[in-house]
Amino acid sequence: MHLHKYEKIWLIFGVGSLVLFLLVLGVSAFAFGHQPPSHMGKVDSQNLAQDPVFSNPGVTQINETTYQATIIAQAFGYEPSVVEVPEGSTVIFQVTSKDVVHSFTIPETNVNFMVTPGHVNMATHTFNEPGEYLVLCNEYCGTMHHMMQMRIEVTPK
Ligand code: CUA
Repeated sequence: MHLHKYEKIWLIFGVGSLVLFLLVLGVSAFAFGHQPPSHMGKVDSQNLAQDPVFSNPGVTQINETTYQATIIAQAFGYEPSVVEVPEGSTVIFQVTSKDVVHSFTIPETNVNFMVTPGHVNMATHTFNEPGEYLVLCNEYCGTMHHMMQMRIEVTPK
């Protein structure tokens, strides 16, 4: 079979970029440890009231500067609706959904993940600037989706 020179170049380019993309994916997944926000943690979303962690949503202090925020997302809000931590805190968010897929998005930060029922979805963020941070739902979850939000209040030291 005869291939035109340009055809060959184009094929090499196409196959080459596919290999490159797969390499980038493999390196970021295995070398940098990228993984889905669920961290594979499971929870029974139908029975959150009986769950040892999610039956008591809120903020727990882990050490001097680290807090754990346990949050339940449901149409159309978050529980609790306000979380308060001091400036400079690192907050480990663990979020699950009581009903459908929501998201947990803090604009202008790297915190932006899906909240899936049945999973413990996690992210960590350090709040170096005091102020009020808005948390939004980025996944269409129903008629009042655009109203779904909560606040993180970072108090000055
Ligand atoms: Cu929850 Cu959109």
